[in-house]
Amino acid sequence: MELNVAELNKLCDTIKEISGYDFTEYSVKSLSRRVEKILTDYHLTIEQLIVKLYDSNDFLEEIVREITVNTTELFRDPDLWICIKDDILPRYKNQDKIRIWHIGMSSGQEVYSMIILLKELGMLEKTEVYGTDINTSVIAEAKKGIYRFRIIADYLENYNKVFMLNDKKESKQHYEKHFSVDWIKGIIKIKKEYTELPILAKHDLVNDKNIFNTNYDIIVCRNLLIYFNQELQNRTFYFFHTMMNDNGTLILGAHESIMGSMITKFEKRENYYLKKAKE
Ligand SMILES: C[S@@+](CC[C@H](N)C(=O)[O-])C[C@H]1O[C@@H](n2cnc3c(N)ncnc32)[C@H](O)[C@@H]1O
Repeated sequence: MELNVAELNKLCDTIKEISGYDFTEYSVKSLSRRVEKILTDYHLTIEQLIVKLYDSNDFLEEIVREITVNTTELFRDPDLWICIKDDILPRYKNQDKIRIWHIGMSSGQEVYSMIILLKELGMLEKTEVYGTDINTSVIAEAKKGIYRFRIIADYLENYNKVFMLNDKKESKQHYEKHFSVDWIKGIIKIKKEYTELPILAKHDLVNDKNIFNTNYDIIVCRNLLIYFNQELQNRTFYFFHTMMNDNGTLILGAHESIMGSMITKFEKRENYYLKKAKE
């Protein structure tokens, strides 16, 4: 079923009115795709969906979860993680304290990828890692640090690429320092010591401010801004800028980039942006 913009607006206004979640500035294209899928999966018309949202808060939370896309994986886009390991993190190595905030982290695999690199580089003890998402169920998953993987696929491909590991034995020895793999159950379990480290909380990038009341050396916000329209993206870049230390690093998704007026406040590198020091 194809939705028109007026129907989509009505749905977003309803969600905003009931819950405060604000999808009114999400990109129409991706939002309508998600909502059309919801209508098909739940066998509802848009009018029926709106009525049901008023009826039950649990249903509303469920629909918010369905609207937001939670795809993620350990060391997603390995070339970026090679750059974080070899180029970005070493820049902060001599600082006494390092703060990193993962915004829209989903189930936390991105957070643990960072923690593993920090451990490998001997920087973990002095780093505070924050992780947030709008969706409470993915935060609960992140706290557990247990992930299902497809048994047939070589799930460790990204990991091996980042650490340049070529044979299976070498790879096993390396990853077992950080997580265990149960091949029968198809589960990866992040070391308990690591799951206790990050400060994880609910945070809505559209509505909420800087909830941790500190500034950050690195902000990681990948594959979330693609769902925002241009104006909301610009406001978000301004928000990031206000929270970053001078020479702080902003890491976006592979298909995301700073456009508009905020472009002058950052220096673009191949895989990331550096905040320019004040002139
Ligand atoms: C596609 S996932 C990206 C996960 C991870 N950053 C990565 O790249 O692998 C997008 C995440 O953004 C979250 N999200 C969507 N809207 C949000 C908002 N307004 N504030 C915070 N998180 C949001 C979703 O719940 C989802 O977990």
